[in-house]
Amino acid sequence: MSGTKDAQTATLTLPDGRSTALPIVVGSEDEHAVDIRSLRQDTGYVTLDSGYMNTGATTSAITYLDGEKGILRYRGYPIEQLAEHSNFAEVSYLLIYGRLPTEVQLTEFRRQLTRHSLIHEDMLNFFGGFPPTAHPMAVLSAMVTSLSAYYPDSLDPKLLDLHITRLLSKVRTIAAFSYKKSIGQPIIYPKNALRYCGNFLHMMFAVPSEEYVISPVLEKALNQLLILHADHEQNCSTSTVRMIGSSGANPYAAVAGGILALWGPLHGGANQEVIEMLEGIRDDGGDYQKFLDDVKNKRGNRRLMGFGHRVYKNYDPRAKILKAMADEVLEHLGVDDPLLDLAKEIEAVALREDYFISKKLYPNVDFYSGILYRAMGFPTNMFTVMFAIGRLPGWIAHWREMVQDPGTKIGRPRQIYTGEGERQYVPMSER
Ligand code: ACO
Repeated sequence: MSGTKDAQTATLTLPDGRSTALPIVVGSEDEHAVDIRSLRQDTGYVTLDSGYMNTGATTSAITYLDGEKGILRYRGYPIEQLAEHSNFAEVSYLLIYGRLPTEVQLTEFRRQLTRHSLIHEDMLNFFGGFPPTAHPMAVLSAMVTSLSAYYPDSLDPKLLDLHITRLLSKVRTIAAFSYKKSIGQPIIYPKNALRYCGNFLHMMFAVPSEEYVISPVLEKALNQLLILHADHEQNCSTSTVRMIGSSGANPYAAVAGGILALWGPLHGGANQEVIEMLEGIRDDGGDYQKFLDDVKNKRGNRRLMGFGHRVYKNYDPRAKILKAMADEVLEHLGVDDPLLDLAKEIEAVALREDYFISKKLYPNVDFYSGILYRAMGFPTNMFTVMFAIGRLPGWIAHWREMVQDPGTKIGRPRQIYTGEGERQYVPMSER
């Protein structure tokens, strides 16, 4: 772990009068942390921080985010610039290797992504083993775990780059194949002439009986959507990837764990929940004020999905870009989606309500992404899979950063035990 050690220390005084000096670590954006790594050894105390609200689990040079100011940068580059000018392959390279690629480097990276886009033909049998009701996230995580069975050398440091491109390329193929299987259509193999996002659209939406022409608008929109999801520092799924990876498990296992963590409705599953929530309000007659009243009064444990964030206490910069994109893309596609109007009305009203203002609840990345994916033709249950494809380079970058850090230790938090004291076993006949 790096990070500059400040000359200053913080002093912690314990109830018995003992005190201990704890070093201060300062990040490159002047973020300050109290380094408690020696605390238990020196005092016997641990820290308690459920939900890790105040715990820096690692130092990292990948993504900087300031939730108060609404800033997000990958390797120093503002998300707004990357979304406007870059593409997903270039951003993946940037996140994983720490620098923008030269033309030669990007061409080679793309060549590798193309070269590794197929999955072993035997794996096609696996898709048939799932019931038609299987959620694509269940299929995706199981298939990514299965990849590790085909590549037992994935922890060989000399083969790191090979497995990184394999993961990036094959996860996209698996996602498209699982969609085709779920709707009973023949799978469509990747086409080498196409780029990352175009190839994915081709595998998702082409049918054998006719030529599929990739819309440049859809391809650009997909690039932007994936860029906006590509990393978000130590979120739930990335922390899961790091945690699994810290045990020495292979990258396929670590990424499969990340996919499962992302699936939850409080994390990446929220994009599906947003659409289902908007549809529910619409089907209920469109009375969103009643819905918002339920949310504010915490009736039925309702939340305004797509609002709120652990770190952003200001407008999520990704949501800002997505809102503008939704208007542009829907207009270009000639799609008139009443759910977009409903979402905008709800946002406008919520941002004026004291409940949301006082709790600093703003739209997050999931509030508008579902509307975009819907307009592009993706079914609702694929939204979280789309998030997973986008977040993949971030997971890989963090996994790589961790395995290359000689200071990495297995992730193993402590706890404060609150159960029974020692007691004696009672035989069944005496209970
Ligand atoms: N709607 C209504 N109230 C909310 C919402 C919401 N979306 N989010 C938070 N609150 C309220 C909580 O009820 C709580 O109120 P209280 O203080 O009266 O108990 C307060 O705001 C703080 O909420 P916590 O859940 O403690 O905040 P936390 O930082 O743990 O949660 C989270 C963040 C999970 C994202 C939360 O805002 C949420 O559930 N949002 C909806 C789901 C969602 O959109 N998730 C996607 C997040 S972005 C991503 O992962 C890609």
